[in-house]
Amino acid sequence: MRFLKISKRAYIAILLFLATPVFAGTAELSPEAAAGKIIFEETAGDVGCSACHGADGQGDSAPAITGMDADSIRDQLDYNEDMTFIELTDEEIDQVVAYLSFLDH
Ligand code: HEC
Repeated sequence: MRFLKISKRAYIAILLFLATPVFAGTAELSPEAAAGKIIFEETAGDVGCSACHGADGQGDSAPAITGMDADSIRDQLDYNEDMTFIELTDEEIDQVVAYLSFLDH
């Protein structure tokens, strides 16, 4: 039954096509990046990095920081007078890095 085979494939293709946006929406942000998003937008220093670095980390009163690595952020939190009021654990810094890397595309 050649006809049945083709229509089954077409059926599956349509299902996959319809499901794609659902998967894309949830798969993009890893749990680590999702935790980083909250720190970035809200909790870092009670204001979030976004208060100075812009909603998408593209820069505002402070420079763009998308794609920054953990060491750069640690340095800034230790020595940059504008940011020393922010205290993050290493785990939280890694989460922010995951989110900044997500924003960097
Ligand atoms: C109160 C404002 C403020 C907040 C909040 C803030 N920053 Fe900054 N940040 C600055 C300023 C201002 C600079 C630039 C300092 C300079 O150029 O000397 C900077 C610089 C940086 C740099 C270095 C950028 C470069 O080009 O070298 C990184 C990385 C950075 N911030 C990360 C973060 C992260 C991550 C957060 C949140 C955890 C954060 N910042 C929150 C003000 C802020």
